[in-house]
Amino acid sequence: MKRIEDYIIAVPDFPKPGVLFRDITGILSDPDGLKLTLDTFYKTLENVDFDVVVGLEARGFLFGVPIAEHFHKPFVPERKKGKLPRETVEITYNLEYGTACMEVHKDAIKPGQRVVIVDDLLATGGTAKAAAHLVEKMGGKVECFAFVIELADLKGSEVLDGYRVESLTKF
Ligand code: PRP
Ligand code: ADE
Repeated sequence: MKRIEDYIIAVPDFPKPGVLFRDITGILSDPDGLKLTLDTFYKTLENVDFDVVVGLEARGFLFGVPIAEHFHKPFVPERKKGKLPRETVEITYNLEYGTACMEVHKDAIKPGQRVVIVDDLLATGGTAKAAAHLVEKMGGKVECFAFVIELADLKGSEVLDGYRVESLTKF
């Protein structure tokens, strides 16, 4: 029987030399791979009490939406600045070079709501940590992070120390 990691395609030197890109389109293009991945997420999150799913642009949307549907919870997209049409709350965070800014609609998370943050991949943890801070800025509580892939060498889970982190596969 195939495992989730068997559906992930390793692409050398993308987007730049030296990077081994973990391509999740191999999961999406195979109905068995997608079912296995989603069913594993559902099982992993079964015992987590939460009110809202936040998915991180762009690949976090692909898994976050079906998770929200499965648990009958709202889905909230966290997007790069300038994409959401209504009033937003934003967070600016540091990248290797320069800064980035993400935002969510202001009415999307209410004080006290418990949040699961979903993305395809945990690398350095910078994106996920900023997402958690944005949820907390709005008065929400991060119950759990859920990733398909964790790149263990980059130690993103250390950056998320203190949070519950669920990764379906580790490379
Ligand atoms: C990738 C990935 C995560 C982030 C992880 O997204 O989907 O969101 O990088 O990296 P980090 O742990 O080092 O912060 P990317 O910025 O490539 O955006 P995309 O999903 O819109 O392609
Ligand atoms: N985002 C950051 N690092 C990545 C990698 N190695 N593969 C896919 N997405 C990534």
